[in-house]
Amino acid sequence: MLQGKKILLGVCGSIAAYKTAYLTRLLVKAGAQVQVVMTPDATQFITPLTLATLSGRPVLIEYFKTGNGEWNNHVQWGLWSDALLIAPASANTLAKLANGICDNLLCAVYLSARCPVFLAPAMDMDMWAHGSTKLNLSKLQAFGNQMIPPGNGELASGLHGDGRLAEPEDILAHLAAFFELNAPLKGRKALVTAGPTYESIDPVRFIGNHSSGKMGFAIAQQLATLGAEVNLISGPVTLATPNGVQRTDVTSAAEMFEACEAVFENTDIVVMSAAVADYRLAKIATEKIKKQEPSLDLHLEKTTDILATLGSRKKANQLLVGFALETNDEILNAIAKLHKKNLDLIVLNSMRDQGAGFAGDTNQVTLIGKDGEPQSYPLKSKTEVAKDICQKILTLLK
Ligand code: CTP
Repeated sequence: MLQGKKILLGVCGSIAAYKTAYLTRLLVKAGAQVQVVMTPDATQFITPLTLATLSGRPVLIEYFKTGNGEWNNHVQWGLWSDALLIAPASANTLAKLANGICDNLLCAVYLSARCPVFLAPAMDMDMWAHGSTKLNLSKLQAFGNQMIPPGNGELASGLHGDGRLAEPEDILAHLAAFFELNAPLKGRKALVTAGPTYESIDPVRFIGNHSSGKMGFAIAQQLATLGAEVNLISGPVTLATPNGVQRTDVTSAAEMFEACEAVFENTDIVVMSAAVADYRLAKIATEKIKKQEPSLDLHLEKTTDILATLGSRKKANQLLVGFALETNDEILNAIAKLHKKNLDLIVLNSMRDQGAGFAGDTNQVTLIGKDGEPQSYPLKSKTEVAKDICQKILTLLK
């Protein structure tokens, strides 16, 4: 359940910080992306180099980088994560979080985070039993934070009692159980197409388009985050494969069709976001075409409309989502496409909207379901648009 999840691991100044090396290793092995944020005191207990090496990312500690005006953006990290796990959470940090104090980067990230927060306290038994710690914990739980309770046993002080950091395996199991509960698409299979297709003219030239694939990749990532088993079939793009997603690379419309056909039968959700070429060369030249004549005619023939073909084969339990990029009469054209291709949902982009469409990092869409009213969304990042599309898919699956 942790495959592809983005985990911010907050580490506080407590002797139990040494256990975060193993915890980081376990999270990474489970497929999570781990970004460590340490309080300055935590670096007394375990080196940032250890955690940076194990997580594969530089550790964040200070707000300010080098005195040249660069800073670690707490808001950005707060938005990046699927979960913030603070382990060990010291008595001092718990007190700060309970009272909204943000005098270090970790506390500021906590206040900015929109994701679920897990606190795994660790401290000596008397600190743990103290009334102020208890009060802070009950406040933090009332804010919606989840507690991963400490264990009982021998403490670093030599005393015996409550306050030991939960074992890394237990912390991992706690997170996995949470994501499992919040994975509404667990057990469902999804197929997403993305990017352009290239149709060869001769061995060195092709007809293509400017699709970046970003929208489809964001959708694949979001479906995987919701627990689906995702097959991503991508045209030629320069994007990294989203975590937890099975990717097949193709070049032409014909290859994309073949790859889609191979998995369609066993797929519950299909999202066709690829910008598939509508036409290909009737005959691809085997040798490079030399420039001789003043003009050159290329004879094109239609490619198979993959979406329409899958629509004609769709079974009642399959959900089919298509895209429409329109320049005029957008809603009418999109609704016509929805019915013609037997879709359950169509995602409409208008070429008239600034910041929408192919290349950029933002998109502005209108979602039109088979039975519902068109729903227009404001301009958002493609990640946020992917979340909106997947939320709509969830409502249609019910
Ligand atoms: N599509 C497809 N196979 C094709 C062409 C398009 O699967 N050969 C899919 C795209 O992935 C997208 C939707 O169909 O989901 C977009 O269709 P579009 O190309 O806009 O519609 P057309 O039917 O080609 O109509 P037109 O070009 O006239 O707008």
